Amino acid sequence: MYGLINKAVEGLVRSKFGDAKWERIRSRAGLPDEPFISMEQYEDKTTYDLVAAASEELGAPAEAILEEFGYYWTTYTAAAGYGELMKAAGKTLPEFLRNLDQMHTRIKLSFPQLNPPSFAVSDETASALVLSYYSSRPGLAPLVVGLLRGLGERFNVELTTRSERIEGVRPHDRFYVSWTPCAGATP
Ligand code: HEM
Repeated sequence: MYGLINKAVEGLVRSKFGDAKWERIRSRAGLPDEPFISMEQYEDKTTYDLVAAASEELGAPAEAILEEFGYYWTTYTAAAGYGELMKAAGKTLPEFLRNLDQMHTRIKLSFPQLNPPSFAVSDETASALVLSYYSSRPGLAPLVVGLLRGLGERFNVELTTRSERIEGVRPHDRFYVSWTPCAGATP
């Protein structure tokens, strides 16, 4: 994955747990003491190793680290560095979720080697939908849980998700998402 992702993992750890903790995690992951370069491609293993090392150093399951990273990504990294792209993707949660693939296609203009996930929305009602998540990478469903939690905050909704793994010809994760406006939010 692009260095942008690893850099954001580093940002999350440094801001929440401090520089010393980051040093321990980086070294446990067997990574050199060098800055990540956003536009450079790194093996996926680098990101998985970082998550595993963070899990051990922080004493939290890898799933929890991934979820927290997803939340941090939507509320901080994407919002700060890619505000316009995020804005263009939609004014409401369902509109935004329907546009996720288009958004990553636009991102591909700046990151040509991007291997993005794919999302499909179905069974939509006024306050619920099903989001199917397809990826060539294993084990990242908890990341999507955190991304959705961050998006709920962005769109001022109280959000609940339940997910299930679908095996078969095109294995994917299915997220049953439902929401209600937060108290005091304008509809
Ligand atoms: C404008 C903001 C965003 C940018 C710049 C961005 C960029 C990226 C990049 C660079 C990767 C790594 C893939 C690679 O290097 O091959 C990635 C992966 C991913 N993105 Fe985005 N993304 C953005 C927003 C989102 C949002 C809002 C979601 C919400 C669902 C999302 C879902 C994912 C997931 C789940 C992955 C993990 C890779 C996988 O599943 O295979 N992204 N994105």
